[in-house]
Amino acid sequence: MQPPRVVLGVSGGIAAYKAAELCRAFVREGFEVHPVLTRGAREFVSPLTFAVLSGREVPTEVWGDRHSPAVLHVELADATDLLVVAPATAHTLARFAHGLADDFLTTYFLSHRGPVLVAPAMESAMWAHPAVRANCDLLAARGARFVGPASGFLASGHEGVGRMAEPEEILAAARALLARTPASRDMERLRILVTAGPTREPVDPVRFLSNRSSGRMGYALAEAARDRGAAVTLLSGPTGLPAPPGVRFASFETSADLHGLLVREFPECDALAMAAAVADFIPEASAERLHRQDGDATLRLAAGRDVLASLRPLKREQVVIAFAAETEDLERRGAAKRDAKGADLIVINDVGRGDIGFESPDNEVVILAKGEPARVVSRRPKREVADAIWDAFLKARPEAVAARELSGAPESRR
Ligand SMILES: Cc1cc2nc3c(=O)[nH]c(=O)nc-3n(C[C@H](O)[C@H](O)[C@H](O)COP(=O)(O)O)c2cc1C
Repeated sequence: MQPPRVVLGVSGGIAAYKAAELCRAFVREGFEVHPVLTRGAREFVSPLTFAVLSGREVPTEVWGDRHSPAVLHVELADATDLLVVAPATAHTLARFAHGLADDFLTTYFLSHRGPVLVAPAMESAMWAHPAVRANCDLLAARGARFVGPASGFLASGHEGVGRMAEPEEILAAARALLARTPASRDMERLRILVTAGPTREPVDPVRFLSNRSSGRMGYALAEAARDRGAAVTLLSGPTGLPAPPGVRFASFETSADLHGLLVREFPECDALAMAAAVADFIPEASAERLHRQDGDATLRLAAGRDVLASLRPLKREQVVIAFAAETEDLERRGAAKRDAKGADLIVINDVGRGDIGFESPDNEVVILAKGEPARVVSRRPKREVADAIWDAFLKARPEAVAARELSGAPESRR
């Protein structure tokens, strides 16, 4: 069998040194790797390193010394399966977004017809800049996939979002991308609403009551739906995770904030995945800060609103996917909860296990769709669990949604 062929674009960020490791990992995994360095990248790493690791020439400019009528960037485009850009600088993302073709990598990008995976790396302030956000949104809307950036220590000594994803993570994302066929853009024209992360309910002006939800499952659901062609809106509690490119994003703090957003967004969607962990109890908040010197204090908790169940009057053809965190008797409790909340599907997490669920990158769930046998999704990365949940959704969605999808209306709001 032909090995997968990848063009590895390296642009000029400090994380370029990690691209050598990525190049090696691709070679180790049996990929045919064609490294391409920008002029910026050459300031950080030597083309020789990549030439030795890949066994191939490493172009930077379009002006080679070749005199054949076929040029290398076109030849390569005909013969490669995937373009991976790691690190992707703000400058290179901008050039991709606006179709500039002033070096080999950008010229190649415009000729490449396969999937594109970018691993951005930059300072948090650059990543947060509206120009960078808009460029990433544009690229994501045109089908580019993103891996990272992660939060952590940056080369500047600052801490924040902007670290390039680790080579192993990029490799896994590349594999997943190659495994999916074009037919897997099977959620095109669907409007998907996802909630993620915890709520925070104030106790006093400086304290709040929250929960251990990391938001990762909801973000994975939003990214998976986006990559399958859906127009996605993500409503997120405070998670510290960067807003995924190509997704409409709004944040909330309290369950009342979330309820307000849902009342506005729910009537407009085809499916709601309610992965946020909404407070069950709302503390009676003190307007003044509680002081230790005043001695013991008592916190009164009132049962909070069941946000999902409260959307029932607004439900028409929307498919509602609920999430349950249970520790025992998962299927029976899950089915009861699904019906009580008026949901079509429920995804049950076993939160009694420390190795999966809340803060873990992996999850193992049971999906219960109405009238379908329980589907156990064995332990795997949350992104793969997300795809299994959307597979179950596509199977369960009512004819009305399917018909609207086929008729081509309404347009995506992205
Ligand atoms: C020491 C140093 C580190 C840099 N690191 C980054 C970075 O991590 N991400 C980024 O977007 N730009 C970074 N830059 C700026 C880019 O190198 C610059 O925008 C350059 O034009 C990128 O060109 P290229 O995208 O064609 O490689 C850095 C610059 C310097 C001098």
